[in-house]
Amino acid sequence: MRTDTPFTRRLGLPLPIVQGPFGGGLSSVSLVAAVNGAGGLGSFGAHHLHADQIVQITRELRAATNRPFALNLWIPLHDEPEHPKVSDAQWIRAVNRLQPFFDELGLDLPQRPDAKAVWPDYAQQIEALLDARPAVFSFVFGIPAPDVLSRCRQRGIVTVGAATTPHEARLLEEAGVDMVVATGSDAGGHRVSFTDEPENLLTGTFSLIPQVRDAVRIPVIAAGGIADARGVTAAMALGADAVQIGTAFLACEESNAGRPHQAALRSVSQTPSTLTKGFSGRLSRGLRNRLTIELEQAQGDILPYPWQNWLTGILKRAAIAQNRADLMSLWAGQAAGLVRHQHAAALMQSLSSAFER
Ligand SMILES: Cc1cc2nc3c(=O)[nH]c(=O)nc-3n(C[C@H](O)[C@H](O)[C@H](O)COP(=O)(O)O)c2cc1C
Repeated sequence: MRTDTPFTRRLGLPLPIVQGPFGGGLSSVSLVAAVNGAGGLGSFGAHHLHADQIVQITRELRAATNRPFALNLWIPLHDEPEHPKVSDAQWIRAVNRLQPFFDELGLDLPQRPDAKAVWPDYAQQIEALLDARPAVFSFVFGIPAPDVLSRCRQRGIVTVGAATTPHEARLLEEAGVDMVVATGSDAGGHRVSFTDEPENLLTGTFSLIPQVRDAVRIPVIAAGGIADARGVTAAMALGADAVQIGTAFLACEESNAGRPHQAALRSVSQTPSTLTKGFSGRLSRGLRNRLTIELEQAQGDILPYPWQNWLTGILKRAAIAQNRADLMSLWAGQAAGLVRHQHAAALMQSLSSAFER
């Protein structure tokens, strides 16, 4: 199979393999550097970072690799203000629901934070990213404003958007986005739809790739449920110009996923992944553990994103420190059972064998 695709040509890369970005602190500079060193495109999820932190992380990435890398942000959803209003009564109900887990981990109940102090300003993130000039700006949950896309073009930044349907892919292409990630519902992490509720847009990767291929002319990157060379071969055969892999890289030691998370990913056998809003307030896929099941019972007391994410994030930090995989989110895609590698270089070598046939 050929490595020479519109994707590799545009970015000057040896291999059409993307290490998917991980938001919320799970990306790492060393993972990006390892993937870049092996000929792929490393990505860093920066949606949780303030503008000055984006500047700093870009410096660290440039010190670690002289190859192209992607910085990734989340576009604020049009139909949902970035910091949705949550009443005090709602807040108290949600915290009370989680109290048994705070108690179990020996934590005090948290005070309600000041939203503006906690969550980064998107407009400032964009300015920092444009100044940082990464080779690639990838994004999810929508389409950046036309002036942002045109400033990317002026600076030579390649833009990559995510689509969960052929319609979303066409909207990205019509807006002038350079490449599209066709993201099937097999993928780990958040369901990144932006034209409807994500529950309504759950096409699997291997149904989605050829439909997106037929819908657009721009390069298509396939994501979701690809974890070994067989998946790479299948995705490319269906018309993808590159593949984007998340879960299998998250399981590697270079990622910033906590040890309990990595250990869980490397020992998946019977544990299926599931889609839930319980951890973050938005639909996302992870391994089904005790907290997932308990949060399913709490449906009415789940806060909208980003509030729920902030609350369960406190539990997660303590759960990692106490090695409690049952009380934290274990993000994973449907191919988690195919995870075999502990190091990104070994995973890259195994994935790239798809191109030697
Ligand atoms: C923990 C986790 C966090 C993620 N965060 C982001 C993100 O911030 N931005 C993004 O574009 N994709 C994000 N993704 C999606 C991945 O980059 C990738 O597209 C996806 O994991 C591919 O599916 P797979 O996990 O089945 O390989 C995340 C995935 C996971 C598992």
